[in-house]
Amino acid sequence: MTDTTSSQPAKAWSGRFTEPVSDLVKRYTASVFFDQRMARQDIRGSLAHAKMLARQGIIGAQDLADIERGMTQILGEIERGEFGWNLDDEDVHLNIEKRLTVLVGDAGKRLHTGRSRNDQVATDIRLWLRDAIDQILALIGDFQKNLLDVAEANAATAMPGFTHLQVAQPVTFGHHLMAYYEMSRRDAERFADCRKRVNRLPLGSAALAGTSYPIDREFVARELGFDEVCYNSLDAVSDRDFAIEFCAASALLMTHLSRFSEELILWMSPRVGFIDLADRFCTGSSIMPQKKNPDVPELVRGKTGRVNGSLIALLTLMKGQPLAYNKDNQEDKEPLFDTADTVIDTLRIYADMITGIRVKADAMRDALKQGYATATDLADYLVKNGLPFRDAHEAVALAVRAADVKGCDLPQFTLDELRAAMAHVPGAAERVKDDVFAVLTVEGSLASRKHIGGTAPEQVRAAIARARSSQD
Ligand code: ARG
Repeated sequence: MTDTTSSQPAKAWSGRFTEPVSDLVKRYTASVFFDQRMARQDIRGSLAHAKMLARQGIIGAQDLADIERGMTQILGEIERGEFGWNLDDEDVHLNIEKRLTVLVGDAGKRLHTGRSRNDQVATDIRLWLRDAIDQILALIGDFQKNLLDVAEANAATAMPGFTHLQVAQPVTFGHHLMAYYEMSRRDAERFADCRKRVNRLPLGSAALAGTSYPIDREFVARELGFDEVCYNSLDAVSDRDFAIEFCAASALLMTHLSRFSEELILWMSPRVGFIDLADRFCTGSSIMPQKKNPDVPELVRGKTGRVNGSLIALLTLMKGQPLAYNKDNQEDKEPLFDTADTVIDTLRIYADMITGIRVKADAMRDALKQGYATATDLADYLVKNGLPFRDAHEAVALAVRAADVKGCDLPQFTLDELRAAMAHVPGAAERVKDDVFAVLTVEGSLASRKHIGGTAPEQVRAAIARARSSQD
């Protein structure tokens, strides 16, 4: 990108003013440093507008040809990094329009007929955001594809499921990963839904009230691939709810990946040791030679903060604004760009990182031996043999206490020991038979949860198949 230089007082409205703004004010009010990212969208919007003006007889065919020629050159200059962005021309819109006028003369000056920067900028942001959403949707697809592969390879890998971070019941690692698949599916739905409201055309609203020229907004909408036009000019130039929605969808996506990251970090801690992450996502320590730190998931967790912050920034930006356009809205871009950049980079890196997870199935299984993960299965067994659930709960609580005292897990009891442990609950001991050991095993516990949404390996595979078929 070229340097943004300042040389003379601003000209776009200068006839009205008797003195130029100070350099500080110029810098304070300018947005060209950051809104030049929308240059391609700005040119695309201008070309559609010019085409419509020519079709409606508002500018001549030669004007349109000149504008198209000039814009082609400008696009080339921008792409080659040769465009001279100028602080005096405040923003991306005025920079491009000024250059166009230098290149093609009066035709350049006619481009802004029936248009204002207010509807121009609203159009540019929507075009920009639509592209960002499409990129994000494709990246969520990549993330999901890789996640499904790891889940499938681990559809039957047993691990403890936790509540309160205490061992609760056995689940499979594949089932655990599929929880994140479901979150990402809702994230994709939210972005796709947000896209519908992004994809409406503000152009034609002009400064705030519309324009007296015989414009054809529907033509411009079709040219730019918008689904429809915005139906109120005041609303079209001023509201940024579509950007806020995008940031809200982004905050939720990052929240999901932040939770996932927290688990990866925990699982990678030697105290837990369920997984290892590929070296390319970790760094060492400058002082402790033994360290391998999960920096990438930690940063995903950390960057969730800035995405949440951007959502609050935009909500706060909007909340006190009277209709219609106010310059406050210029502040919408940096949080929006930063949010899209963060989400895009995070998804890219995450899709790759998932493929580098090395599962330590033995450690997961060892962890299942602590915490009486099949206690609920034992209670359910007693219930199926006729004991009321509350009594079964109490009987198993007593068995767990006895196991604690003995220092063993439930399946390690003999039948007699198990019965003796429950003796204080009437009707419990006699309901325990030899077949109890089938339900006390991890495999028995997993296989029994075989309804839709359960952790039985067959159900995890079915969930993965369902997910794959919805991806095609
Ligand atoms: N740079 C401005 C923005 O980002 C463009 C619109 C300015 N309009 C105006 N009337 N000052 O919102």
